[in-house]
Amino acid sequence: MQKIVIDGGARLGGQVRVAGAKNAALPLLLATLLGEGEHRIANVPDLVDVRTTCRLLERMGCGVEFARGRVKVEVNGLKCREAPYELVKTMRASVLCLGPLVGRFGQGRVSLPGGCAIGARPIDQHLKGLSKLGAKVVLEHGYVDVRARRLRGASIVLDMPTVTGTENLLMAAVLARGQTVIHNAAREPEVVQLAEVLNSMGARIAGAGSEEIVVRGVNELRPMDCRVIPDRIEAGTLLIAGAITSGDVLVRGARPEHLAALMEKLDEAGVAVGVASSGIRVKGPARPRAVDLSTQPHPGFPTDMQAQFMALMTLARGTAVVSERIFENRFMHVQELRRLGARIRLEGGRAVVTGVRALSGADVMATDLRASASLVLAGLVARGRTRVHRVYHLDRGYQRLDRKLRALGARIRRAPDRPPVAIR
Ligand code: EPZ
Repeated sequence: MQKIVIDGGARLGGQVRVAGAKNAALPLLLATLLGEGEHRIANVPDLVDVRTTCRLLERMGCGVEFARGRVKVEVNGLKCREAPYELVKTMRASVLCLGPLVGRFGQGRVSLPGGCAIGARPIDQHLKGLSKLGAKVVLEHGYVDVRARRLRGASIVLDMPTVTGTENLLMAAVLARGQTVIHNAAREPEVVQLAEVLNSMGARIAGAGSEEIVVRGVNELRPMDCRVIPDRIEAGTLLIAGAITSGDVLVRGARPEHLAALMEKLDEAGVAVGVASSGIRVKGPARPRAVDLSTQPHPGFPTDMQAQFMALMTLARGTAVVSERIFENRFMHVQELRRLGARIRLEGGRAVVTGVRALSGADVMATDLRASASLVLAGLVARGRTRVHRVYHLDRGYQRLDRKLRALGARIRRAPDRPPVAIR
């Protein structure tokens, strides 16, 4: 176990490069199951979830090499078509193997992902769509088993624009017989990249990035050779690190077209946001202005940036109302931010944040991936020392965020996190 120790107060300055997107890399890795041969993926972030996905592919019988940001996946038939409990419980995105397995091999079996800190996160839309494509879905003993001789194209209307639901159904439909239309599809950049890479493998997908995606099934796909898009959430987190410390930071590789909603909110909050050829630059004000926000599916304000933006709002002039409309429990960071002196009142799906002039360092506990980032950001400006415990949550989605922040001037380091002494 490790913790992150931060001595607050440093203004961040300089340049930092954003890594490849976790939420693009995971579906791309599992999409390799759709094509026989050697697949190559570049700019893959070295994260716990990526290594878990590589282990899952190896367990199924694929050859996987991962070095210096490049992954090679050799697919020649499979020895197993199952994502077991011990892997899925650490990474719910394992459910993304269902679409490729049943789409290409006629059968997939996945341990049902449980809920997590941010909500129940069911996969009913994934399973409804696979049934529409002709699969037989059986839930038993905590596993979901999906079978079909060959999927056939269908019209699917999603109840909500689920990101991995859209990705799973895209991967199921590309080898189905006939045409599939996915209505109310997710529009995230990670969905768009998956469709582009599938098309480079020989798929016939149109409309990715809009709410209606049309897939015309083909008989087989070639191996992929692609490069993961930059991680817009890591980029947004680094931009807020510059803003919250009244610093001046250039995030190289960040794409403005992926971050329009965040850039708009930062601008409203009085942060100077500039688009450079190499990325996005922020200059933080002495004190930000309070701005309301509500999380939405892309291209709205991303739920994965809500906790980080709330950290900024804890120091704002005025009161900000933050509404979480995607997940039912994504305010786990609130009680920890309060320990740092933030004034936040929870009212149902909203957090009312009254800005204070300063936060003060404390011991805080990370609960989920983005909540951890929010606590690190608050620790950068809190007076005194902040220790963020259970930092393994952070490592699931950020490749050594502490190292990147230190390079920008933050007084931040990792340290062993001895478990609390048992009180006899
Ligand atoms: C993806 O999760 C991301 N993960 C999440 O990022 C992100 O927060 C989320 O999309 C929303 O943008 C990956 O891409 C690996 P959803 P996903 O299905 O696909 C409900 C991070 O921090 N829903 O779009 O699981 C669901 O409960 C992670 O990197 C159903 O009810 O999210 C939620 O309330 C956290 N039934 C809402 O839809 C379903 O079948 C959106 O979930 C599917 C989803």
